Amino acid sequence: MTAKNMEELVALAKRRGFIFQSSDIYGGLQGVYDYGPLGVELKNNLKAAWWRAMVYDRDDVEGLDAAILTNPTTLRYSGHEATFTDPLVDCRACKSRWRADHLNGDQCPNCGSNDLTEPRPFNLMFKTAVGPVDDGGSFAYLRPETAQAIFTNFKNILDSTSPKLPFGIAQIGKAFRNEITPRNFIFRVREFEQMELEFFVKPGEDEHWHEQWVAERLSWWAAQGVNETNLELYHVPAEELAHYSKSTVDLMYRFPHGLEELEGIANRTDYDLGSHTKNQKDYDIQANVQPNTDANAKLAIQDLESKAWQIPYVIEPSAGVDRGVLAVMNEAYTIERLDDGKERTVMRFKPHLAPIKVAILPLKRNHEGIVTKAKELKKTLQKLGLGRILYEDTGNIGKGYRRHDEVGTPLCVTVDFQTIEEDDTVTIRNRDTMAQERVHTSDLSAYVSQYMSQ
Ligand code: GLY
Repeated sequence: MTAKNMEELVALAKRRGFIFQSSDIYGGLQGVYDYGPLGVELKNNLKAAWWRAMVYDRDDVEGLDAAILTNPTTLRYSGHEATFTDPLVDCRACKSRWRADHLNGDQCPNCGSNDLTEPRPFNLMFKTAVGPVDDGGSFAYLRPETAQAIFTNFKNILDSTSPKLPFGIAQIGKAFRNEITPRNFIFRVREFEQMELEFFVKPGEDEHWHEQWVAERLSWWAAQGVNETNLELYHVPAEELAHYSKSTVDLMYRFPHGLEELEGIANRTDYDLGSHTKNQKDYDIQANVQPNTDANAKLAIQDLESKAWQIPYVIEPSAGVDRGVLAVMNEAYTIERLDDGKERTVMRFKPHLAPIKVAILPLKRNHEGIVTKAKELKKTLQKLGLGRILYEDTGNIGKGYRRHDEVGTPLCVTVDFQTIEEDDTVTIRNRDTMAQERVHTSDLSAYVSQYMSQ
């Protein structure tokens, strides 16, 4: 089951500390959100799952964490200065601005007027002044995609890790787009995070790898709890392709507001490495530097057998972290009717994504023996390195269970008199089944580790 509408998710996200409007006390900042105590855990867990799958579980991918501020030359030669635009129209009647391709007909969604300007290209990149003098001469862009720094570091990574084709470079980080109309909560925002892999392959093997990555990414999203029935493939038609793409397959997810892109998997060919290679030379010439014509200076890789230098093609699975969080929250959201007629809200996150893995609840918050034991168990479980283990002494176990259902904590452990006076067992209460069982404290770590690995 998923949320009925976005409002339900937004309300839960705020109520339970997942996501807040940024600069909330000053009326917010449109298209910018902050992740609260549980949101940061969920988001970090999703990114960690991606990093494990992309980097640790493979031996052909290296990681990168590059800067956000980007030399404008990079984005000139990547094509973003010229082409990274959306079509903007102004309403002459009420002065509002809209993305032309998001309009229903030629009517202003705000005032209903048909007096709209012709669409004109609006560049989505944010610029910022660099250094103390803001004279317009020295500026940088906030990167519009993490991918470019992977291309500009291609040679550094090649020289330092000596990979053979096919191989990839993975990066997670912030990107910025000055969206004309940010909307749908954290779906379309101006500051967001991407998880991008650039997977370099031999030209000619690109189509095979493109298919392969579409399949890999579908199964990864399924492992994050995204029901495959809520995912569809969209083969982007030629007229909608980004300037660098030969073909793109979008993984579309049924968000509460409709079917929209969760991840794009593009075949960027040798467009970027080729452009940076070619234009590096132009740039050297413009800068009066002797161009380096050595093949080795190209963003190319040498075939070990033929010794020929070749600019590889690249397949790019590019996922939005925030969109991923929204999809995972939507999938997890469940309202259940209980036998007593009451309802409970449960976030059925996969255990590896749950913001809190285990809540340790002492039956009595003022009982020294119970509290000491509960704190000791928290420390023991925390050391397993599974994520956040919470000691919580509100004293009302029933309410604790409900609250932890709503934030998706897979297991609650209750320490009571039986634990300290009789048999050193605790109650483990399961979020999904609501079943309770007693487990000896010496078996608790193994139980929790096993449960979290599913
Ligand atoms: N790197 C692809 C994108 O940002 O859309």
